Amino acid sequence: MQLSPQQIADFDRDGYLFFPGQFSPEETRTLNAAVPELYSRQEAYNVREKGSQAVRTNFAAHLYSEPFARLARHPRMVEPVQALFGEKLYMHQFKINGKMAFEGDVWQWHQDYGTWLNDDQMPTERAMNVAIFLDEVNAFNGPLMFIPGSHKRGVVDARHDLTTTSYPLWTVDNDLIRQLVARAGGLQGGIVAPTGPAGSMILFHSCLVHASTSNLSPWNRVSVYLSLCAVSNHIRRFKRPEYIAHRDFAPIDCLPDDCLLKPYPVALPWAKGMPASALQTSLDELAAA
Ligand code: SIN
Ligand code: MN
Repeated sequence: MQLSPQQIADFDRDGYLFFPGQFSPEETRTLNAAVPELYSRQEAYNVREKGSQAVRTNFAAHLYSEPFARLARHPRMVEPVQALFGEKLYMHQFKINGKMAFEGDVWQWHQDYGTWLNDDQMPTERAMNVAIFLDEVNAFNGPLMFIPGSHKRGVVDARHDLTTTSYPLWTVDNDLIRQLVARAGGLQGGIVAPTGPAGSMILFHSCLVHASTSNLSPWNRVSVYLSLCAVSNHIRRFKRPEYIAHRDFAPIDCLPDDCLLKPYPVALPWAKGMPASALQTSLDELAAA
């Protein structure tokens, strides 16, 4: 799949592109079916909601779950991004966010590249976020919200929020959000929240400011978030554990387009458990020095 000139222009202006129903119900079924078992594991890579057992984020499933390893190599997702950057890609981060019915907590307003720069020393913003819905996303189950065009501001001021939720994040303060939303059209389109069936896909710029509210509905909002980084733009610092910020910069080789329907073989390097090295960080080395 290639992006049309119109799609490239829309992405440049708005900072995101939405592809409703990009994957069929048959294609998402196997992915969805694998989630409960992955979430049941008592492992560091499952981050739970504050004061609850509900999983907020599962990290790095593409390294130990076959269906997700195939998704990570899907040409309908990887090829358009590769064409946009004119370069091969590696997987910087892979998450299955739960946002479970009644329990899913907020994600404060933030940019992803802010974190990748501050924590991981990723040199430039040449990394793309991809969201793939495994459940229907509607107005009630905490859809992802964007401020269109906010990526044009580059990296904005942020503060490290260690208290609001169970996951540390560099968040943008309310005054700046007010300004960005006003500039994007205020009540007329200053915030958008793409909704659609399971299998829908969003590509969004790593500087696009985004957030989501809590999920008070009875419907789960499980979505996969992948961050595809241009190989030459790989991170320079290993401050975060490897299951959060990957250190294997090998380019992704795509599988055929029907890879979610057929059992193409895939490597699963963490199938027997996460290596101890994945928990080590450059901070440990500094502490030991
Ligand atoms: C994210 O920004 O990484 C996740 C947001 C969400 O799951 O709503
Ligand atoms: Mn984010």
